[in-house]
Amino acid sequence: MTTENSKKVPLHVSIIMDGNGRWAKQRGKERVFGHFEGVESVRACVEASVETGVRYLSLFAFSEENWGRPDAEVNALMELMVKAMRAEMDSLNKNGVRFMVLGNRAHLSDQVNRVIDECMEMTSSNETLTLILFMSYSGKWDILQAAKKLVSQVASEPSSASSLLSMSNDDFSRYLITDGIPDPDLIIRTSGESRLSNYLLWQGAYSELLFTDVLWPDFRKGEFRSALESYSKRDRRYGKVK
Ligand code: IPE
Ligand code: IPE
Ligand code: MG
Repeated sequence: MTTENSKKVPLHVSIIMDGNGRWAKQRGKERVFGHFEGVESVRACVEASVETGVRYLSLFAFSEENWGRPDAEVNALMELMVKAMRAEMDSLNKNGVRFMVLGNRAHLSDQVNRVIDECMEMTSSNETLTLILFMSYSGKWDILQAAKKLVSQVASEPSSASSLLSMSNDDFSRYLITDGIPDPDLIIRTSGESRLSNYLLWQGAYSELLFTDVLWPDFRKGEFRSALESYSKRDRRYGKVK
């Protein structure tokens, strides 16, 4: 890869992994079969990120709204995530991947939180790639919890109000759950839906968006590399004139 091209590799790629249920239905199978197959796509995208030099890969795995799905599907998804974390952690660790889960973890079960903590601890000093799973996450929840943190800060320390009133966008970002993580350069959504579904509303303000018809279980290395290729041709102007 030339130096010019290397400059165009996104630092942070984020993916709304959608279409598992339809993928399974097309094959006459239960929806959960699509979720199983989707784990293979996660593995492929992690490998492709390491190969292409992407430093942050974040994946929307389960939204706050997804709690409204039938119990059987929610339980199957939680079990699958625990199983996948246990199965993949050693290899992620060996490959220098730092693993994180971000979201409303108070809604996750103790068992799920225990496994997440183990995996995050085990991989915390890795530096090749940061892999973030957004679980029980929604963009509005994130902004609201930031606002609540600010309110409680002022309540316990009223003198902090005047400096908070002059805070910048960057200052506010520090109260979001993604504190310390760069905003996504590229947000990909699979399965032909052209919406954000309450994902990274603040952080995605200037992300390049890429919507593809490919269903998540079919989104593998080739699709990931094509998305990066498409990103490398985008002209990011941030409202300015070039
Ligand atoms: C994405 O696939 C996985 C989650 C949202 C957890 P879906 O389960 O939404 O699959 P479709 O969109 O119904 O096909
Ligand atoms: C978005 O997919 C959430 C995740 C991929 C985790 P959904 O399938 O839940 O979104 P909608 O309902 O089509 O907007
Ligand atoms: Mg869906």
